[in-house]
Amino acid sequence: MEQKFSDLIILLANGISQRRMYFDAHPRVVATAVEVSAGLNDVMARSPDGEFSFGVFNGKFVRDGHYLVGPSIAGRTLISFAEHLGCGGFVFRRTMDPDTVVALFRLGAERSDKPVNLAQAQALLAAHGLGDIVLTPPLEEEGRSGVADSADAPTSGAGDLTAEFAPLLNVYQSMYDSVSTNNVAVHGGGGIDRDQARSAGAQLVSLADEGALDVMQFMRYPDYDSYTIGHSVRVAALSAMLGRVLGWSPELLAELAAAGLLHDLGKSCIPEEVLFKAGKLDPDERLLIESHPTLGAQILLDNGERSPVVVAAAWGHHLGHDGSGYPSMPTAYRPGAVAEVVHVCDVFEALTASRPYKKALSPRASYEIMLKGAAVYHPRILAAFIASMGLYPPGSEVRLNDRSIAVVVASGAVLDRPRVRVTNDPQGQPIPGDRQPAIDLHQAPDLRVMEILSTGAGMPLRP
Ligand SMILES: [Fe+2]
Ligand SMILES: [Fe+2]
Repeated sequence: MEQKFSDLIILLANGISQRRMYFDAHPRVVATAVEVSAGLNDVMARSPDGEFSFGVFNGKFVRDGHYLVGPSIAGRTLISFAEHLGCGGFVFRRTMDPDTVVALFRLGAERSDKPVNLAQAQALLAAHGLGDIVLTPPLEEEGRSGVADSADAPTSGAGDLTAEFAPLLNVYQSMYDSVSTNNVAVHGGGGIDRDQARSAGAQLVSLADEGALDVMQFMRYPDYDSYTIGHSVRVAALSAMLGRVLGWSPELLAELAAAGLLHDLGKSCIPEEVLFKAGKLDPDERLLIESHPTLGAQILLDNGERSPVVVAAAWGHHLGHDGSGYPSMPTAYRPGAVAEVVHVCDVFEALTASRPYKKALSPRASYEIMLKGAAVYHPRILAAFIASMGLYPPGSEVRLNDRSIAVVVASGAVLDRPRVRVTNDPQGQPIPGDRQPAIDLHQAPDLRVMEILSTGAGMPLRP
């Protein structure tokens, strides 16, 4: 049920984003509206009070006293709509037909003057046929918001977030925003914002200095249908982690993280029906897909990007260490270390994530595939990556042999004995955030990982 709630919030936000790019009758806008309409029906039918509601507090979604991680990262257009309206949340009391949902998307996408108060905001909704949606007052006081500022904030599982992790969520939000804004800009033929990617990259690296492992836990946020954005965010975080293992300087790591965020920019120029095609690509479609590194590098250069790190990563992340891959070169060409780092992280992320055309693979299965084609990767970089990620990469959700569920916070001294934080007890009951035991499995001989439940993208693994 929680998942359905989160999915619906993300869908609402996606609809607003899509309506910004397209128009009311565009197939993507209409398809999302149909999905939201059906989702509202479903959630309301199951909810005890027959309503669908959520709050917005401090730039994040809240529900039942905790932050919603996935929606807060991926649903920023809806958060900023709530902020524009000056409300603290939305209550949907009646289901809406797809046309009404499109009206909501339109209002969220085309911001009029900011309402002066809640009554005016409510009247604005009513004027657009959205009077059934009730806006709730801003959540400012503790208690009313239900989100405590201390670690006592109630949580109910691995995906929840106490206030102490809020800064990490902010970093993921800005990384996500950077990728999403630049995708929209390229799509609409506008200029990209290089500074935003840089600042998000620098934020990630500076935070990771204090708690690299804490950041990695958030690799597990759900991705919903925005996997192209989530992919770049995770490639950025993985690349920064790998660069750190390789001993690179903080300045270079920040550039590397920005490079990860921008590496697939060229994909914004590829038609979605080709990019998201579930079946086999024909030769022309393949050529189109393979043009994205060159297109991306060109967009970056056209936008004044001069960092060899960022441009090289966009251009060379599909080039193999053995000269294979694309863009095809007249003679064997060896990409630089930065492109090689992004390449390894890019392939690992793609293998361990779920896509419309494939299920997620476990890290072990992914390493096997990568090691079979090992000539494609820089041997030292691939070895460092596997050693630092281990069999249970940080952010993975695992079941231990006592049936408790834990999130991996760091790989351990041995590949199969990571450090974990236990989120659900052996009976399956969620453990509050501030009481979740941290265990180094290397030091706990009686405990071991029995099963990996999900990896980076928060997607269930192929059975
Ligand atoms: Fe790519
Ligand atoms: Fe990629």
